[in-house]
Amino acid sequence: MSNRRPEVAAPWSSAGLLPNATAILRPGDTAPVLLQVRDVTQRYGAARALDGLSLAVRRGETLGLLGPNGAGKTTLMHLMAGVLAPTGGTVLLDGRGSPSSPATRRRIGIAPQDLALYTELTAEENLRFFARLYGLRGRALSLAVERALALAELTARRHHRVHTFSGGMQRRLNLACAVVHGPDLVLLDEPTVGVDPQSRGHVFDSLERLKALGHTLVYSTHYMEEAERLCDRIAVIDHGRLLACGTLHELVRRHGGGHRVRARLTRHPDDVSSGTIVGDEQEWVLPDAAQATELALKLGSSASSLAVRPPDLETVFFTLTGRSLRD
Ligand SMILES: Nc1ncnc2c1ncn2[C@@H]1O[C@H](COP(=O)(O)OP(=O)(O)O)[C@@H](O)[C@H]1O
Ligand SMILES: [Mg+2]
Repeated sequence: MSNRRPEVAAPWSSAGLLPNATAILRPGDTAPVLLQVRDVTQRYGAARALDGLSLAVRRGETLGLLGPNGAGKTTLMHLMAGVLAPTGGTVLLDGRGSPSSPATRRRIGIAPQDLALYTELTAEENLRFFARLYGLRGRALSLAVERALALAELTARRHHRVHTFSGGMQRRLNLACAVVHGPDLVLLDEPTVGVDPQSRGHVFDSLERLKALGHTLVYSTHYMEEAERLCDRIAVIDHGRLLACGTLHELVRRHGGGHRVRARLTRHPDDVSSGTIVGDEQEWVLPDAAQATELALKLGSSASSLAVRPPDLETVFFTLTGRSLRD
């Protein structure tokens, strides 16, 4: 059990599932900045988990954090949540409050990568515990717990102890505990990791609901297709530094590389130069879709397999962070 959740107090109102969410604003460059991370450094002894990283989270947006293991994603989330104070630099909510101050913390919820649940308690007891920690009492607390149980689709299992839950159910409850107090900013550190596809889909649906309700989300994941679907902007970090940040379209345009054509040839057409050998296939990288299609048409009658792949988030990720393995 970690004690990383902030001690905050924020009452539910009667309207909406997560009533502290402010009006839904269209995210984009014009939305005001909700959380500003400025030149933060985090040292552990001689090692730097974060190394002069700056990043703005805009109100109403879903910002994805992508990076290999050890990139600094969890450390960044902990600074954003105020459970860790940076060795250098500043983190400010609405340009004023530090997330480590109690008044600001109440507006932030975090679903930690390492589950923060009391496994000997029931689902409802966990939610009641965190809701009390955030300062809720009486009817407001009961209402908050009901809504969080409904969000996680755990109402039927409310009286069951958490140690009887599957990994997916525990992830769902972890998410529910992060939002029980209706925070403006919800930080989700790999919320879909290590769960079965059904629970993953369910957690993902919950994230879409939170987003639709106007919450600002910061969301780290290793699943590129989730980030592509959910995030308004994506930040790629590695070695504690921000490598790129932008919309999917911007990242693909700047860092996606070319369109790849891959073929297993039965004979080599005369009018095509050799590609790079990849196993028993050849690969060509073309600058645009038209040229890739033209090449594919030339290869078509000589290929036993043929694939054209436009640049996507995965190619962006590998272009920026390389292919060497991380532990
Ligand atoms: N409490 C800690 N003590 C020492 N080193 C740490 C600690 N937490 C994280 N690190 C190191 O900081 C770097 C970033 O870790 P982390 O933020 O967990 O990355 P990520 O979440 O992207 O995998 C890693 O090199 C990790 O080993
Ligand atoms: Mg992590």
